[in-house]
Parts: sequence; C-alpha cells; structure tokens
Amino acid sequence: MRTPIIAGNWKMNKNPQETQEFLEAIKGKLPESGVEAIIGAPAIDLNALTWFSKDEPLKTAAENCYFEDAGAFTGETSPKALSDMGIDYVIIGHSERRQYFGETDEDINKKAHAILKNNMLPIICCGETLEQREAGKAEDWVTGQIEAAVKGISADDLAKSVIAYEPIWAIGTGKTATADQAQEMVHVIREKIASLYDAATADKVRILYGGSVKPANVKELMSKEDIDGGLVGGASMDPESFLALANFNK
Ligand code: PGA
Repeated sequence: MRTPIIAGNWKMNKNPQETQEFLEAIKGKLPESGVEAIIGAPAIDLNALTWFSKDEPLKTAAENCYFEDAGAFTGETSPKALSDMGIDYVIIGHSERRQYFGETDEDINKKAHAILKNNMLPIICCGETLEQREAGKAEDWVTGQIEAAVKGISADDLAKSVIAYEPIWAIGTGKTATADQAQEMVHVIREKIASLYDAATADKVRILYGGSVKPANVKELMSKEDIDGGLVGGASMDPESFLALANFNK
C-alpha cells in the first residue's frame, strides 16, 4: 500500500512571517493518518516548518540543495545542514530549476545521491514540454530523465523515494493534464522503474502528478491507479486550499 502524498511547492513565495501565519491557520487540521502532507518551502522558511512539524502531522521539504555537504560554494544549501535541521524531503529537478538555473540530469543524479546519503528522500521531478508531447516524444523524454536521475541508486533507496511527473505545459497555466493523460505517463514511469529495477520496487515508489492540481480536480487525479499524490504549486499557498487538498479523501 502506497500512502498518498499531498506536497506543496511554494516556489519563491512567502517570508518567515507569512509562513508562521500559514502554519497557524493549518494547526490541528491536517490528517493524522492516511495521507502524508508535505510542504516544500524556500530555505529561509524551513526553520519554522521543522518546528511546526515536531507536533503536527506535516513533513517538510526543501526546494533545492547542493550535492556537496560543505565547502566553498557561496549561496548554496548543504544537504547535510538540511538533514541536521530535520528536513524530510528535497525537491530536485523541477522544470523551473532545469530551465532557469541550468540544472542538468547529472546534477540531479548527484543531488539525489547526496540527499539519500543524508537520510532524506528526494522528490525527483520530470516532465515534457508541449512541443515534445505534440511530437510524440514525451514518453522517451520523461523516461530518459528518470533513468538519468536514478543512476546508481539502490532499489531500497528508490523504493522510499518520490517521483513527480509534471508536464511543463500544465505548470502554473491552469491547464491540467487530464486524469487519463496523467495516469498514462505515471504508469509509463512505473514500468520504466520496473525495467530498471524490478516489479517490487516499482510497486513501492510513489509517483505524484503536478501541474495545476487544485481542490476541484484532486479527487479525480487521485482515483487513478498509478497516481499516488500531487505536487502542488499555486493551490498550496492558501491554507484553506492546502487543507482541502490534504483532506481530499474525507
Ligand atoms: P502549479 O505548480 O500547481 O502552480 O501548476 C506545480 C509545480 O510547479 O510544482
């Protein structure tokens, strides 16, 4: 049984004060079981999240990290420091990081190893552009991103990790992939994991869909066999909306 995940991705939004206000608003209202609620926040907001998560059923995610633990890397965030402060997950390979910050498949693979070595779990993002989809190249592209990201990762580690399929054309556009389109690609990703590893690993890894997920469409997406949750940008920023997503099965 794969526990569903609702993971917020605040991107570069909210300061520590706004984070406190958000946390006050969701206090005591997250599901105690059955769903894993995660918030991915800017590094400057993570301290507030880790304190909150000591008493509340919330897991925490950084939105990025470097692949070295320490050293002369001005401006980067250490995966070891994130782990030391109690962070659970790190989002890596988001299309915005690939597109605007030049993150490569190789970087993402190195980050995945660094995150696992530091006892956190990666949320590995993948997804195709509209042009790739229209040219019939989406499956090859996405499975290629996954193969590169998981290189050298053990089956045990991968089974605990999370993958997020986010078609670039659906991110922040209000244009959700249909639940069938999302299911189709998530299934392809699971089959790829089965071919790279084995059926048992593929059965355990949680694969999320992301791209304009909101309270109004979460139920339908979650009803699909292979979709284990959502990575949610815009609709995760408002406390009521995040709570509605986290409580989707009530
Ligand atoms: P969105 O973002 O929900 O605002 O489309 C999703 C994401 O980029 O993770």
